[in-house]
Amino acid sequence: MMQTAVSRTLLSVWTPVFSSLAARTCSNCRAVPYGARGYSVIPPSTSSEEKAMLDRMLRVDHAGEYGANRIYAGQMAVLGRSQSAPLIQSMWDQEKYHLQKFNEILAENRVRPTLLLPLWNVAGFVLGASSALLGKEGAMACTVAVEESISEHYNSQIRALMEADPDRYKELLQIIKEFRDDEMEHHDTGLEHDAEKLPGYWLMKTVIQAGCKAAIYVSERI
Ligand SMILES: [Fe+2]
Ligand SMILES: [Fe+2]
Repeated sequence: MMQTAVSRTLLSVWTPVFSSLAARTCSNCRAVPYGARGYSVIPPSTSSEEKAMLDRMLRVDHAGEYGANRIYAGQMAVLGRSQSAPLIQSMWDQEKYHLQKFNEILAENRVRPTLLLPLWNVAGFVLGASSALLGKEGAMACTVAVEESISEHYNSQIRALMEADPDRYKELLQIIKEFRDDEMEHHDTGLEHDAEKLPGYWLMKTVIQAGCKAAIYVSERI
């Protein structure tokens, strides 16, 4: 009851945002009947349970890539003229590609994004900018924490899809594995560029990763 009321309130508040997002992302929408083979990445659902599982996965992945983009945007807002700018920009460029891919997949499969995108918009940027205010080491520490969380999240999805049916989810697995490898590379880049030299590195990492876990949890559900 309470959950329904909260969902309704969120919907009414953020509908204009989603309408504009949908208008942007649905340029590739196709009229695909439910259950019909319409796109090569996601197989046609054979049950409402499978559809719900895939929707949840795609929604949270899209939210993660959206948040990652906002984090790098925040870092570039602060460090855009520093020596670290090309490095941060190159990771951001990969995140842009990840997000674009999930935008396409969501639109083509008529999966709505999480209702919390406006929150991740602000929270991601603030996290990126505030970590960058601590200097290059702060930005890299944030990158290590976030990318480790996203890699682990993708790994758990890969395990779940492999256990369910590796052939059936072959194309989706391919994309998630490719993105997981990119995230691990970002994680390693952060470590190679002095993330651990930040005073309070472990505390910061723990706090950010707790935030990532909470964000993943709610983005799967709302
Ligand atoms: Fe990514
Ligand atoms: Fe990444």
